[in-house]
Amino acid sequence: MDGNGRWAQARGRPRLFGHHAGARRVRDVVEACPDLGIKYLTIFAFSTENWKRTQVEVAGLMSLFRRYITREARALKDRGVRVRFIGDRLRLDGKLVVLMDQLEEMTASNDVVHLTIALNYGGRDEVARATKRLAQDVAAGCLSPDDVDEETLPRYLDTHVLPDPDLVIRTSGEARISNFLLWQSAYAEYEFIDTLWPDFSAQELRRLCTSYGARDRRFGAVPA
Ligand code: FPP
Repeated sequence: MDGNGRWAQARGRPRLFGHHAGARRVRDVVEACPDLGIKYLTIFAFSTENWKRTQVEVAGLMSLFRRYITREARALKDRGVRVRFIGDRLRLDGKLVVLMDQLEEMTASNDVVHLTIALNYGGRDEVARATKRLAQDVAAGCLSPDDVDEETLPRYLDTHVLPDPDLVIRTSGEARISNFLLWQSAYAEYEFIDTLWPDFSAQELRRLCTSYGARDRRFGAVPA
């Protein structure tokens, strides 16, 4: 969800103003998913690298995440949205983690849309944490090194219950993936769009879904 800071700066407002506007777009996009046939939506809210921002911005974002969860929980539950969080929770404030756990628990039986929020998430960090747990299982004798293959590692990733992404959308004109779902996106289709996240809309998501539908996905094979 890139471009919040530039969106705010263009209006002469502090960066957090852009993040608040960005949070409102999350609601619109989640609401649009059932109509567009999107069952799984993953949003990148805070990366393992975002701690490098000023203390004011980081604290403001953490407070925004707490407010979002508190304010949206009821609507998410009522709309059938199942919420999951991925990322390393150890560095997050305890109060925020409690709210995250509660939201996951209260929406656990929902199945209309599966919303995954990546918070203190980094693709490399995720693979490193997964590898550590895998190595622990090998050391404990629960897993043989001979059984480690492409199917094994994903079972240790934060996303182990989720399908791989079909389409990754990067807003704000940046053409890089910035540590997002590195393993899972091996065969994802990409859209790099100029729109700043607070200007992103359900209409634009519809347009991107239509364009995705016309793509020829071969997964390395030759078309029949
Ligand atoms: C990147 O844009 C955006 C973030 C680091 C924060 C994203 C968070 C939200 C949209 C808040 C809502 C999230 C939830 C889960 C409700 P940037 O700040 O790097 O923008 P810039 O590149 O223009 O500076």
